[in-house]
Amino acid sequence: MKLSTIIRTAVVALFSYLFLDYIGSTDETSAFTETPWTWLVLIILVIFYVAGDVSVQALNNVLYHSLSADKQEVYDRNIASAKAKRNQWFKNIYNKLVGSKPIEQEGEIVLDHNYDGIQELDNNLPPWWVYGFYATILFAVVYMARYHIFDGINQDEEYVVAQAIAQQEIEEYKKTAKDLVDVNTVEYLTDASDLKAGEMIFSGNCVACHKVDGGGGIGPNLTDDHWILGGGIKNVFNTISEGGRAGKGMVAWKSDLKPVEMAQVASYVLSLHGTNPPDAKAAEGEIWLDPNAPVEQVEVKVIDSTQVEVLIEDQPVTGDVVNTKE
Ligand code: HEC
Repeated sequence: MKLSTIIRTAVVALFSYLFLDYIGSTDETSAFTETPWTWLVLIILVIFYVAGDVSVQALNNVLYHSLSADKQEVYDRNIASAKAKRNQWFKNIYNKLVGSKPIEQEGEIVLDHNYDGIQELDNNLPPWWVYGFYATILFAVVYMARYHIFDGINQDEEYVVAQAIAQQEIEEYKKTAKDLVDVNTVEYLTDASDLKAGEMIFSGNCVACHKVDGGGGIGPNLTDDHWILGGGIKNVFNTISEGGRAGKGMVAWKSDLKPVEMAQVASYVLSLHGTNPPDAKAAEGEIWLDPNAPVEQVEVKVIDSTQVEVLIEDQPVTGDVVNTKE
């Protein structure tokens, strides 16, 4: 196979790849990972191309050999001159972009600095460089107009927009993929249907030790402010999933319950909080304070460079600035 055939084939393969990828891919995944038979399509395309290329060459060969000797000569000459023309075209473009004078004409641009026989040429700036420079000027003008005159959105705003879109997509995704919750993503489910499902799971698996009302028996009271293993949806989910301390009787439920079921029963457990059932077990463990609960609203106002006013829930407190630089 000739080198030119190999190069052409590679180019065709590359463009077919990009084309198939372009038409078949979604935002996230490439067509080639999503539907692996796209590779087959690509391979077939390339095989067809090679077959076509090879047959055209064979046909050329046959026709060439059917020519008489002097006609073959003419043909060879035509091919050679076409090739030379093409090479000349590339050479011209290259010379234009580099813009240097051929060595024979250097006499025209030599400066009359002469340092011990070392002379200097007054070359023009290479046109490729000059065009690049003009392009940056054009870019600057467009940029300035877009962002400083017409207020195009800047990177910070782009980031906020992208975040908002991503957030929305996560919400959508969560709706369709409830089963994917784990201890890091679990949230307190408030839907009546989820709580109902949680209640069913609770009465099916947990009441023997925690009682129907969650007041506690073998297991601790689940309705008070005190938690042995931590309160809040994440800790409770984790306890249900991984079990309690060794030997206490609370097993890990992750092999019996699906993640979504653990999230439902954890939410149900939390919904029992504060119900004060009769004959509840005494509190065990620590009072749980949610570290993510909203904190007091603190607002800092600068009066001058040495005085600030701190507003804690609208109660002003003034104080000196502590200089942290010293
Ligand atoms: C065999 C008895 C038993 C069963 C069944 C049981 N638990 Fe427990 N549970 C316990 C014990 C005992 C503890 C205390 C564990 C410890 O001290 O480490 C506990 C602790 C807990 C805690 C943590 C309480 C705290 O104060 O931190 C939660 C939440 C909990 N169980 C939920 C459930 C749920 C939901 C189920 C049903 C899926 C369930 N348990 C089934 C015995 C049980």
